[in-house]
Amino acid sequence: MKKIIPAYVRVPLIFAIVMGALEYFIDSGDKPAFIKYPMVALFLGVFLFLLIAIEIVVDAVDKVTYSLLSDEQKKQLAEAQSVSFADSKLMKMLTRSKDIEQEADVMLDHDYDGIKELDNVLPPWWVGLFYACIVFAIVYLVRFHIVGDYTQEEEFIAEMEQKDKEVQEYLKTAPDLMTKDKVTLLTDAASLSEGENIFKTNCVACHRADAGGAIGPNLTDKYWILGGGIKNVFNTITEGGRSGKGMVPWKETLKPTEIQKVASYILSLQGSNPKDPKPSEGDEWIEEGAAPAADADATAVTDSTEVATVVVDSLKTE
Ligand code: HEC
Repeated sequence: MKKIIPAYVRVPLIFAIVMGALEYFIDSGDKPAFIKYPMVALFLGVFLFLLIAIEIVVDAVDKVTYSLLSDEQKKQLAEAQSVSFADSKLMKMLTRSKDIEQEADVMLDHDYDGIKELDNVLPPWWVGLFYACIVFAIVYLVRFHIVGDYTQEEEFIAEMEQKDKEVQEYLKTAPDLMTKDKVTLLTDAASLSEGENIFKTNCVACHRADAGGAIGPNLTDKYWILGGGIKNVFNTITEGGRSGKGMVPWKETLKPTEIQKVASYILSLQGSNPKDPKPSEGDEWIEEGAAPAADADATAVTDSTEVATVVVDSLKTE
């Protein structure tokens, strides 16, 4: 049998296919399978060894058999192996070309200064493609120009809707994609107690167990240096405070959903009035949508400039 692909192409090719298949079928996360699972590497090593061994053996057998052939047989073999793809049956079927001996049958009368012309039939592959195009065109014409199945715009909108749905599905099972814009205040007891645990483990050193403040500011009052409300508090814990103050970005240690829980826990401590709190720092935070504080405070405020700052503050937060 004639070998169309030489061994130095065949061995790496088979090896690459097997390795590719292993990578495809073995779920190994972001690491290649043969690094994550040593058994896979071992298997690949043995497999490569066997491939090469088989090649060597087959080649040796071929050589021995060849040396045992008579001269007559050697000649026959050489002839059989010299058949090229261009002369093969498959090629004949695809082109229906005439052999050179029968050239006279298709020769035309034309003679252009000694240059002659053959009247070969159209190659079957070409004719087949041509008819396929005609069938496609008819189907297309009827479907989109006569029946009006759907327009490009409808196709686009349908695809976008489908993808939107897939994104929504994905977000449902990926709760850790919590961001500053999406975060909401949690009020259920389970989340708050988890938040409390996170706070006890990571934050009490600076904010005190009752959050009354030590190195870090008091977290139980209405005054915030970096802005109150769930979105700002979430952001502060995620990204850290002003540089050099000691509040590190916690996104390296805590998951976004954990930050959401601890932020919710902190906000649940609002107005808990711990003993000896650290004096208030920052500005009073008025939740968006709440009644303007200026109205409530106006009666107590005597200094008109103070009213003005409260109003300006409440405008700032909107
Ligand atoms: C190493 C000490 C330290 C630790 C630990 C620490 N903080 Fe802070 N925290 C600070 C300091 C200091 C500030 C003030 C930052 C500033 O002024 O920019 C602060 C500010 C904050 C603020 C903003 C307060 C405001 O007024 O705007 C929040 C919220 C907060 N921390 C939450 C936490 C949480 C939650 C943890 C635990 C996961 C934590 N902190 C751990 C030192 C700490």
